Amino acid sequence: MRILSGIQPSGKLHVGNYFGMMKPMIENMGRGELFAFVVNFHALTSVQDRDRLAQDTLEAAADFLALGLDPEQSVFWVQSDVPEVTELMWYLSSVTPMGLLERCHSYKDKVAKGILSSHGLFSYPVLMAADILLFQAEVVPVGKDQKQHLEVARDIAIKFNNTFGETFVLPEPQISENLATVPGTDGAKMSKSYGNTIGIFQTAKQLKKNVMSIVTDAAAIEDVKDPDACNLYNIFKIFAPAERTAEVRDLYLNGGAGYGYVKLELVDILWEYFREARAKRDELVGDQGYLREVLAAGAVKARSHAAKTIDLVRDKVGIKY
Ligand code: ADP
Ligand code: TRP
Repeated sequence: MRILSGIQPSGKLHVGNYFGMMKPMIENMGRGELFAFVVNFHALTSVQDRDRLAQDTLEAAADFLALGLDPEQSVFWVQSDVPEVTELMWYLSSVTPMGLLERCHSYKDKVAKGILSSHGLFSYPVLMAADILLFQAEVVPVGKDQKQHLEVARDIAIKFNNTFGETFVLPEPQISENLATVPGTDGAKMSKSYGNTIGIFQTAKQLKKNVMSIVTDAAAIEDVKDPDACNLYNIFKIFAPAERTAEVRDLYLNGGAGYGYVKLELVDILWEYFREARAKRDELVGDQGYLREVLAAGAVKARSHAAKTIDLVRDKVGIKY
């Protein structure tokens, strides 16, 4: 089974990214052929600052490795190091109906949030389809928000196969239903572009500040509260051990849960949760030579797979003459 997913280096990675995509990818190690990459071409649609994009690309790679992705047990690279993906995007663009892209929520949401409505942003799903189809991926672990993009990738593959003959494997999304969306500090989906994130690798001070800013109601300690309606509890339960979550749940239901105390406990739990990964990340960020070597070796492996698909596609469409 071939499993593939990518992450945008469009800002510091947060615990929603970890649970929605990075953790499932890391857990898939050993279950099949694993392809993981940092999608810097995609990030260019929202980050137009040279130094930030370059630095966040390397940092996202360091984050993924520090969290447990083993480059020996996977193919791990930066998207732009395999330029065949942009060539495939053109072939796919030529069979992609406009209506398919016009229906995409993500484009409309991003424009509503103030991201420049560029052609790149509009055709973002075609580049994502190229990412997936170039490697003939069968399974794509992503958060729920990417479901529609996966459907678009499948539709494009079907359209291409119908037009030029059987070429692409149809990819399936892998979305963990019990944890589809991690809430942000304001209760909306945690997202880099909403300013409501809890970073995976923040300083202790930033972490405390973000956790303390989790929005709650004004109930007093002794009040009975509904844990499931509480944003703080919904974040707490993701990280706390099951027994502790059950105890805190009881406090909510019977009176006795103080938001301030739960927040302080969450700060400690989060700090411990990522302790080992944090040490590994510091090491990687301090040794950029090693990081770049890992990425270069990954790109060589990725290109050898990409070359096979591109050759086949050129032949199918008649570009090979
Ligand atoms: P962001 O919304 O922060 O910009 P991305 O769009 O770069 O995040 O998402 C990267 C991956 O992380 C995707 O697979 C996405 O589905 C997942 N993801 C992002 N935010 C969350 C969240 N709050 N809960 C679960 N998964 C998420
Ligand atoms: N669009 C995805 C996101 O915002 C990132 C992405 C790009 C991706 N190409 C991909 C995810 C291919 C899975 C497979 O999260």
